[in-house]
Amino acid sequence: MGIIYEQLGSVAVLRIDRPKALNALNRDIVDKMDTFLTGIKGDKEIKALILYGKDNFAAGADIKAMVQCTEREAKAFSFSDTFNKLAALDIPTIAAIEGYALGGGLELALACDLRIAAEDSKMGFPEINLGIMPGAGGTIRAPKLIGAARTKELILTGETISAEKALDMGLVNRVVEKEAVWEAALKLAEKLGKKAPIALAAAKKTIDRGLEQTSVEAGIAMEADNWAALFNTQDQKEGMKAFLEKRKPEYTGK
Ligand code: CAA
Repeated sequence: MGIIYEQLGSVAVLRIDRPKALNALNRDIVDKMDTFLTGIKGDKEIKALILYGKDNFAAGADIKAMVQCTEREAKAFSFSDTFNKLAALDIPTIAAIEGYALGGGLELALACDLRIAAEDSKMGFPEINLGIMPGAGGTIRAPKLIGAARTKELILTGETISAEKALDMGLVNRVVEKEAVWEAALKLAEKLGKKAPIALAAAKKTIDRGLEQTSVEAGIAMEADNWAALFNTQDQKEGMKAFLEKRKPEYTGK
């Protein structure tokens, strides 16, 4: 209950399933998500992950569960550890967004690598309207993606934005018709799943760590190290050989 897990070929799908509360996230759902993420970490059969919620991605953290929280309880309720676990996966992750992705729901989407949104979906950080602020990565991940000014506008006003505006500011990668969200996410996951997995993981790590670097030189030095290390892999040899032999590469993840 609350979470449905499926594996479609090499693509894992994690579906939030709490339609009556617009897929609002409670501790139970996030605990199940956490167990699932721990289970797939390092699973070589899984090449990509889609997070999805039919009709609504997630309308935030469960307000009913939080209303009486003390500071200590709020800390225990926080989803940050699980969302960090998601962000740290080696495989590409895609949020397929229909309906609302608000507050903790948007933070969940931001912990994914890529976001595909339905044209009628709505996103935002409404926490300020509840007398709080985002508490599961939003204040840190959003500015890296869309800059401080846009993030402040979202967080300080608490206003919900359209998919079109989200695309315009770089909060999502693609906007498609509602009926096409799931297919678009699956197609993209399958496409990414065919790439060389060690190179994908290295690219993800280098981009994410690079954003944490304070100097461009240090970031570029790390990039050079991670780049050169890929020449230890069989996939690098296969990828380049396949190009030269004018055929499709067959990656083994080694
Ligand atoms: N928590 C708990 N229940 C929620 C919820 C949430 N975040 N969002 C929606 N629901 C529930 C409603 O209480 C309602 O339940 P009942 O039928 O039992 O009353 C049901 O889902 C349907 O919601 P509405 O009747 O409100 O639907 P609507 O279409 O009129 O409005 C909405 C949709 C604009 C998304 C509205 O539900 C809403 O504003 N939800 C709250 C969004 C929000 O503030 N999210 C941030 C939460 S804080 C957070 O996420 C903290 C963090 O950083 C981790």
